[in-house]
Amino acid sequence: METLRIGVIGLGRLGRIHTTNLIQHVPEAKVKTLADPRVDETKKWAERLGDFEITANWQDVLEDPEIDAVVIASPTTLHGEMLKAAVKAKKHVFMEKPLAHNLETARELYKNLKNTGVKIQIAFNRRFDHNFRKVKDFIDSGELGEIHLIRTTSRDPHLPDIEFVKKSGGIFFDFMIHEFDTARFLTGSEVVEVYAGGSVLLDPRIGEAGDFDTAYAILKMENGAICAIDVSRKTTYGYDQRVEVFGSKGSARAENDRETNVIVSTEAAVCSDKPLYYFPQRYMQSFANEIRAFVESVLEDKDVSAGVEAGYYSILVARAADISAKENRSVKIAELI
Ligand SMILES: NC(=O)c1ccc[n+]([C@@H]2O[C@H](COP(=O)([O-])OP(=O)(O)OC[C@H]3O[C@@H](n4cnc5c(N)ncnc54)[C@H](O)[C@@H]3O)[C@@H](O)[C@H]2O)c1
Repeated sequence: METLRIGVIGLGRLGRIHTTNLIQHVPEAKVKTLADPRVDETKKWAERLGDFEITANWQDVLEDPEIDAVVIASPTTLHGEMLKAAVKAKKHVFMEKPLAHNLETARELYKNLKNTGVKIQIAFNRRFDHNFRKVKDFIDSGELGEIHLIRTTSRDPHLPDIEFVKKSGGIFFDFMIHEFDTARFLTGSEVVEVYAGGSVLLDPRIGEAGDFDTAYAILKMENGAICAIDVSRKTTYGYDQRVEVFGSKGSARAENDRETNVIVSTEAAVCSDKPLYYFPQRYMQSFANEIRAFVESVLEDKDVSAGVEAGYYSILVARAADISAKENRSVKIAELI
């Protein structure tokens, strides 16, 4: 196979990013079909990018023998059903995080989707980000020594739509899931215990939906490292994405990316640009890198960086964090397996 023929399911924010990246940055891929119930909007959006088959019915993509792989970027509650059907239809799958909106579905997928004969990549894009990648390279080089502590911060520039919150699976499943995967990715170790908490400080409707808008988690890893995570659904200054790794021989810290690196110093203050506004700006390069890696993994039969196992283990941690926050106790991952 020289060209990977792809159908994209779900043409919202992420589906459009992945489609655009495939067209503009992955010459070995050909996007054939776009599936979204919002057919007219999808047609209008896709006009400027080329000719595609457009359908309201995602199963059309799976029934098409000319499609080798699918990108699933639908709402999280549909991930489990769509992933199972795509694998049954023998399509390779690139699917947005999280693997599922609850632990039960994730566990079922993990048990049933081993040795499927197709590639399945879960879109943990931070693994493909230039800053996170460099921190990981320093860890792998041994220059930081044994890793003892990790701190990660993830704060969005504005509140999500309340309807999105209701269908998201909650702050630990939808949002902090990236940090859980980052902890596993950077330490190369599994989470064994979680202590987490949350508050509703930004929008009471988020509390009424049974969720938090501000949260933290402390993870204890199997190798003894401790990871401290904080997240917020809203800042006043852009998208705040930082990580620091502290080891026995040194530390590495990734700061926020900015539009320019100019620092202006005056009598009043020393100022720089604010962090890049949100994920489409901050993580654009990582989105292109991750989908290119997926296409390569299929065409060159290489392992994916994060598959169903990474999806499942991050969900285990999300569930543990949810229980911990609601029951005000630490939760061992072993309780959930
Ligand atoms: N990696 C990241 O940084 C990141 C950021 C945001 C969202 N996400 C993930 O991406 C996924 C999509 O989020 P989004 O923000 O793009 O949502 P969105 O609401 O913008 O897009 C979802 C799209 O799916 C479509 N859809 C709904 N039902 C469908 C069906 N039955 N068949 C086909 N399409 C259907 C909707 O019409 C919509 O166009 C979520 O799982 C979310 O967790 C990842």
